[in-house]
Amino acid sequence: MGFSRYDPDMLHELSERPRILLIGADGQLGWELRRTASPLGDVIATVENDSRRRNVSGELLDLSDHGAIRRVVADVKPHVILNAAAFTDIDQTERESAVATAINGVAPGLLAREASRYEALLVHYSTDNVFDGELDRPYRPSDSPRPANTYGATKLQGEEAIRAIGGPHYILRTSWLYGARGNNFLMTMLDLVDAGRPISVVSDQFGAPTWTRSVAAATVQILALARVAGAAWMRERFGTYHMTAGGRCSWYEFAAAILDRYRDGEHELTPQSTSSFPASAGRPANGVLDCTDIRRAFGIVLDDWRTSLERVMEEVLETRGRAAGAAGLMRTGSGTGARVRRRAGRARG
Ligand SMILES: NC(=O)c1ccc[n+]([C@@H]2O[C@H](COP(=O)([O-])OP(=O)(O)OC[C@H]3O[C@@H](n4cnc5c(N)ncnc54)[C@H](OP(=O)(O)O)[C@@H]3O)[C@@H](O)[C@H]2O)c1
Repeated sequence: MGFSRYDPDMLHELSERPRILLIGADGQLGWELRRTASPLGDVIATVENDSRRRNVSGELLDLSDHGAIRRVVADVKPHVILNAAAFTDIDQTERESAVATAINGVAPGLLAREASRYEALLVHYSTDNVFDGELDRPYRPSDSPRPANTYGATKLQGEEAIRAIGGPHYILRTSWLYGARGNNFLMTMLDLVDAGRPISVVSDQFGAPTWTRSVAAATVQILALARVAGAAWMRERFGTYHMTAGGRCSWYEFAAAILDRYRDGEHELTPQSTSSFPASAGRPANGVLDCTDIRRAFGIVLDDWRTSLERVMEEVLETRGRAAGAAGLMRTGSGTGARVRRRAGRARG
């Protein structure tokens, strides 16, 4: 891409209160990062559009405006850049690959270059979709990527651009992000239940549903450790890591665990095969990532996905219960005894 390589040894010690430039503060991970990182440093948040109508404030930064990246980083002169922004709609990426490439493929390299210019650390997030899912064991960071779809290809391009710059960076690959806010599988399931619609979910793709708050907390844990341990310690650990919840399940099993905990647990849920599901983009059948390296390097082990889901559901039931409770629309039972009605067949051909 014509970038010169930067020297990773050029890295600021993280000061007492580092300046943290957070990109994508309105996304589901960015939202959690903003809250989790604020005790650690001064968080300067950016959003793509004027999101005031969505009650999210921040500097405006559109990652497809490459000049703007340079200007914002020069303005902020950060010690750390957290890039939680991406073009994340996997199916839409097939149709809008040029836009997705600008955001997911090119912008991360520009961020890495600007981070290096200011001797800042770049933390960037990537995905299990950089793998095709053909392996029969969890993927390690050292496994050769082979993207499952165009989204995965653009995310891999972004990773490679960062590595090509060679500056201070951690690339954290995660999977199946969800939380109590934002566009994600959990919220879709709850909306379908609320709408009284029958639900069909693929049962032959496996991964680890990962709570956005766990990823945000682990990111901040890395930065907090780095602040104490110093630049040399950080430098020894630059690279690419896998960071997901523990355990594995299919999307169908994830849906069943959600529905068991919502309303009265009596909702129709049907397993479906990938081949019968209409989607533009391919998905990895095995998106399970091996997280051994991040445990060895930083001592980080995220909770098992079921444990995190329980915490998120408590939050969801609390908020949705408050919103709907007065109208008597919903029962927020403990979940014990609740059962999802399951059918063995397929909803759609
Ligand atoms: N979601 C998952 O299941 C998943 C799984 C593995 C890895 N990841 C990775 O984890 C990271 C966070 O994902 P997420 O789920 O939090 O994503 P998300 O909820 O879709 O949020 C992405 C954010 O990026 C912003 N954005 C999109 N285009 C932009 C642009 N041109 N300039 C600036 N900001 C832009 C979006 O702003 P608008 O809302 O205004 O468009 C949104 O706030 C991403 O790197 C993603 O690839 C996600």
